Amino acid sequence: MAEIISILNRKGGVGKTTTSINLGKALSLDGYKVLVIDNDPQANLTEGLDIEIEYEDGKRITPTIYDVYKSGLSMPIVEVDENFHAVPSSSDLDAIELEINTDFNRNFKIAEALNPVSPLYDYIFIDCPPSLGVYTQNALTASTKYIIPTKCSSKFAHSGITEAKALIDNEVKRIINPRIEPLGIVLTFYDKRTRVDRAVEADLIESYAGEVFDTRIKQLTKIPEAEYVSLDIFEHASTSEAAEDYRSLAREVAQRIEQNG
Ligand SMILES: Nc1ncnc2c1ncn2[C@@H]1O[C@H](COP(=O)(O)OP(=O)(O)OP(=O)(O)O)[C@@H](O)[C@H]1O
Ligand SMILES: [Mg+2]
Repeated sequence: MAEIISILNRKGGVGKTTTSINLGKALSLDGYKVLVIDNDPQANLTEGLDIEIEYEDGKRITPTIYDVYKSGLSMPIVEVDENFHAVPSSSDLDAIELEINTDFNRNFKIAEALNPVSPLYDYIFIDCPPSLGVYTQNALTASTKYIIPTKCSSKFAHSGITEAKALIDNEVKRIINPRIEPLGIVLTFYDKRTRVDRAVEADLIESYAGEVFDTRIKQLTKIPEAEYVSLDIFEHASTSEAAEDYRSLAREVAQRIEQNG
């Protein structure tokens, strides 16, 4: 069975999608079978991997995660690369919150669709939108672990983590998914020359001892550059510092999973 890992933070632009793509790809290059799921109506992961969503007469014909939420369709998996598969999203997902509002199983849509898929992979990453609503709740219901990417250069880094952990510990773990555990907090956009970054780093290490990954994802221009040309960092610049940062994070993730059994 796969480790199913939610990548979440209510704060926007902290590197959730970048981490889903590049951590997932790094693990696939190490020989693991990886699936990444775009669970965000913004569909940035879908665009970032250059997955085309086709329309005919204004109607979408490529199945996406929307159809999983709406009709219980099996996961529409696209092969991006060897050992690296993805489930795309589409902007109509925005409306689903209201459309499934009265469904009794509205928080179990992803979990149910992952049941038959999970044995086929080592890692499944679920990229969440910047909110803790129905999409993130579905991801957390299905997950064995979660990762919180946190932008170092932000005074609000701490509250982003507190909010996510409050939802998980007070609601998800208690009511719906008692097996979910933290896998780690990853510091992104890191610039050690900046005093704020060093202060936030020290603060988070003190508050969440043992959870903060040793790897820092540095603030590096190669990352938006790769995003701009819809490539992961390994296809775009495999010898760059950014690629090395994500390789290092992948090693730490695999180590923690092995240690946890
Ligand atoms: N380490 C980094 N250094 C420089 N730029 C980065 C880094 N990580 C991400 N970015 C850029 O910052 C922007 C936001 O990143 P990303 O889309 O991964 O954040 P997100 O948390 O998924 O955002 P959202 O909350 O909107 O889903 C993107 O343009 C991305 O290319
Ligand atoms: Mg995103």
